[in-house]
Amino acid sequence: MASSAPIGFFDSGVGGLAIRDAVIKRLHFESTIYIADKANCPYGPKPPEFVRERSAAITETLLAQSCKAIVLACNTATAVAIDHLREKWPDVPFIGMEPAVKPAAAETRSGVICVLATSRTFEGRHFRETCERFASGVKVIPVAADEFVEMVERGETWGLFVEKAIRAKIEPALNEGADRIVLGCTHFPKMAKAIARVASHRATLIDPAPAIAAQVERVLRDRSLLATPPVMPVQRMMDAP
Ligand code: DGL
Repeated sequence: MASSAPIGFFDSGVGGLAIRDAVIKRLHFESTIYIADKANCPYGPKPPEFVRERSAAITETLLAQSCKAIVLACNTATAVAIDHLREKWPDVPFIGMEPAVKPAAAETRSGVICVLATSRTFEGRHFRETCERFASGVKVIPVAADEFVEMVERGETWGLFVEKAIRAKIEPALNEGADRIVLGCTHFPKMAKAIARVASHRATLIDPAPAIAAQVERVLRDRSLLATPPVMPVQRMMDAP
């Protein structure tokens, strides 16, 4: 694989673009290809086998474009599909999303954190293992907010209606003392302003995008796949297969 080859990204929709942007911001010479599986968004309510099939089909498309690494810019796809993709393409570096439980657990003062994600993400082994490894002694309150994905796709990220929906989800966790809110779905940073308004001074939001970008850098460096000048980076969007 060539170090000048693009990094492939995919998500069910626009959420993962924030991950791609965090990578470009950190790694200035990288080219990228992004696929949004809009026709099948949201992934959350779909059967895991379906999300696995879609993830494999999209990966195939990205590999046909010679991508040197694939970023699953979607917590839900990571939860249900990354193990299968690694099995199917053992030589391809796959980087997945991990709910940022580790920094939240390290930073909390109240000992209570809230994780906002899709229900499928909570069913996956990554969430369970991350909690076991990094949050023992911390109360983790999982809050499933599948419907926020479609709201973000419709552009509903701000305003009274959005705040009302957010309040209904996170107020119970805030009342239990949560002082950190993990944005465990790549769509949710688009609603960050509204979530922060509802949480006001009670809780701080944690967005995993910078940590994922750092992980992409580590993985590429380990394999000597970081793009280096002279290159002309190109950022492309592609239709889903
Ligand atoms: N951005 C995806 C995630 O991080 C959304 C999942 C969905 O489509 O339901 O989980």
